[in-house]
Amino acid sequence: MSRKILVTTALPYANGSIHLGHILEGVQADIWVRYQKSLGNECLFFCADDTHGTPIMLAAKKNQTTPEEYIKKVHIEHEKDLRAFEINYDKYYTTNSNENKELAEEIYNKLKSKGHISAREIEQTFCEHDNMFLPDRFIKGTCPKCNSKDQYGDNCEVCGSTYSPTDLKESYCAICGNTPILKFSKHLFFKLQDFEKPLRNWLSTPNRMHEGSKKKLLEWFDSGLQEWDISRDGPYFGFQIPGEENKYFYVWLDAPIGYMAASRKYFESNPSEFDSYWRNNDSEIVHFIGKDILYFHGLFWPAMLMGSEFQTPAKINVHGFMTVAGEKMSKSRGTFVNASTFVKYNNVEHFRFYMAARLSAGLDDVDISFEDFISRVNSDFIGNLVNIVSRVATSILDKLDRRLGKISPEGQNILEKLLESQEDIKKNYEDRNFHKVIREVTSLGDIVNKYVNDKAPWSLIKTDPEAARYVITDALNAAKILFTYIAPVVPTSSQTVAEFLGIKDGLNFLNLKSFIENVNLSNYKPISQRPDEKGIKSMIEETKIEFEKTQENSPTSVSKKVEEKSELKSVSEDGTISIDDLIKVELRVGLITEANHIEGADKLIQVTVDLGEIGKKNVFAGIKAAYKPEDLLNLKVVVVANLKPRKMKFGMSEAMLLASGSGETLSLFIPHREANSGDLLK
Ligand code: MSP
Ligand code: ZN
Repeated sequence: MSRKILVTTALPYANGSIHLGHILEGVQADIWVRYQKSLGNECLFFCADDTHGTPIMLAAKKNQTTPEEYIKKVHIEHEKDLRAFEINYDKYYTTNSNENKELAEEIYNKLKSKGHISAREIEQTFCEHDNMFLPDRFIKGTCPKCNSKDQYGDNCEVCGSTYSPTDLKESYCAICGNTPILKFSKHLFFKLQDFEKPLRNWLSTPNRMHEGSKKKLLEWFDSGLQEWDISRDGPYFGFQIPGEENKYFYVWLDAPIGYMAASRKYFESNPSEFDSYWRNNDSEIVHFIGKDILYFHGLFWPAMLMGSEFQTPAKINVHGFMTVAGEKMSKSRGTFVNASTFVKYNNVEHFRFYMAARLSAGLDDVDISFEDFISRVNSDFIGNLVNIVSRVATSILDKLDRRLGKISPEGQNILEKLLESQEDIKKNYEDRNFHKVIREVTSLGDIVNKYVNDKAPWSLIKTDPEAARYVITDALNAAKILFTYIAPVVPTSSQTVAEFLGIKDGLNFLNLKSFIENVNLSNYKPISQRPDEKGIKSMIEETKIEFEKTQENSPTSVSKKVEEKSELKSVSEDGTISIDDLIKVELRVGLITEANHIEGADKLIQVTVDLGEIGKKNVFAGIKAAYKPEDLLNLKVVVVANLKPRKMKFGMSEAMLLASGSGETLSLFIPHREANSGDLLK
């Protein structure tokens, strides 16, 4: 009997790019979905952009656009990046949709009518300058435990302690730098504790999730379930709460409802199908998420569904975080790679293959290394599986008029051996132990390659062509089985094999046992090329450069300003500027007469430069990683003297120091010989 399964991946936030961590999740779920489809199950796959909340509202503002416009643009990029990795969603939607609004209101009203919503006044941090309550991440200050400066409102990155924003010392608004106040406002709460019993029940059902996840959730029960604040005051980008004034649903309330909204959109013309998934426990809801959001998916979400009489998830599949060479992905090291950067220089099926080789059902972080990526893809995919086909598919077949014969008795034995693994492989797919699938398939590939090596059809063809025809027929039938086994992992490569072998429906578990004999084959089109180091190198380089660009929004680098063509409007198409343009930039020698640390600044140093007759100017220079204030005193530097003064967080910056590089290797431009402050550069 075939199953009905609705699968989701967590909704990426609309204020960042899709990176390889998101791809890990998407590929993991996509492999599972393709596997289910390959069995003939009805399996639908949904995701969406998570578009609401303060960070997105502020990001839009920073980009001088509306949140609606901003999320529209991001949506196009996100979907493109995910699909580039062959993550084949049946619908990739958005949480800022009518469907989501209606469902969120329906669920909220239901919970309210059943008494699961409470209201009370709470006191929170408020910025009078920005006229808004500040989310924890937008409050910074000194850690109450270890006194480290510039820590976020919820936890200290230096000592690791967690606290409430009101405990922070010398707190300031991360948007404008002003000191916030405390202010009361009414908030609405979802009474999670009402669901303690049914939640425990739900959790104790076998196979709901990995034991590690269950254990983590049970710890939260032990410390007592708390009611959950589901409202935020305006200004907020989100859905207004019905019956309230200037109150919005907290982004995490409507985000998971986005799973439903995507499916409602998909079933637009067939609404009863929506119910057949969300209100009928003959079907299964399966979520793929990272371990950081288990709390939401393992407690709030099922409780919300229970309270509003929808079906709860059958399964929560939780994965760990991607790390690179044992360390957290890092932008400065170039290992925090955006999906679009990867695609530009590398083959996505190689990454899917490598991901599968690294993935299992547990919560452990998934460590990758790009050297390992290249060597594994080369040895296990190209050198093993692809090789079975490529080594026999061209000149040898040509000499046999590209015609297969019959499978030999010896070949029959090998194929049977390959088919024996079927149940194991299926179980490992179902259980998400993809690394075992890859291990098993490559070891079967070894058997086939050894057989071909031993028979040496390239020699046989000269002495006994019919014997060679047997070997090739055996090998290609073996390849058909192996590429069926890994089709969910590398769908395009498998499709290439299917086309080469003339199998119209593609490779799937339903036609696994049909052999190909006595047929003519078309010309061979390469399945996949070897990955190379150049691609990886370029990708890492580009990632570093992208990161450095984001670091340079400080007043040091003039090169960045030149890139921003809006500032120098006369920059021509080919990037050159005329001498007239150059003269507009007043470069002068400045003597640093004062240099100071700035309280609360990560990158900036305050510098006073004496420009001779022009006078002294105040500059905030983003050079803290490379210079100490005491190193700067009495140094003569090159300054853009006629830059329009800019208001920065800590005050006005009236000029710009020239420098090259960034981070610790940043280097200020200083005159080579004796020069007087105020001298104009010519
Ligand atoms: N918007 C929320 C999810 C709402 S779901 C109703 C969110 N977004 S996210 O963009 O931060 O993360 C989306 C998914 O990607 C999460 O499952 C998260 O765990 C996963 N990952 C983000 N970074 C990751 C890695 N470095 N490695 C693996 N997965 C990672 O959370
Ligand atoms: Zn502020």
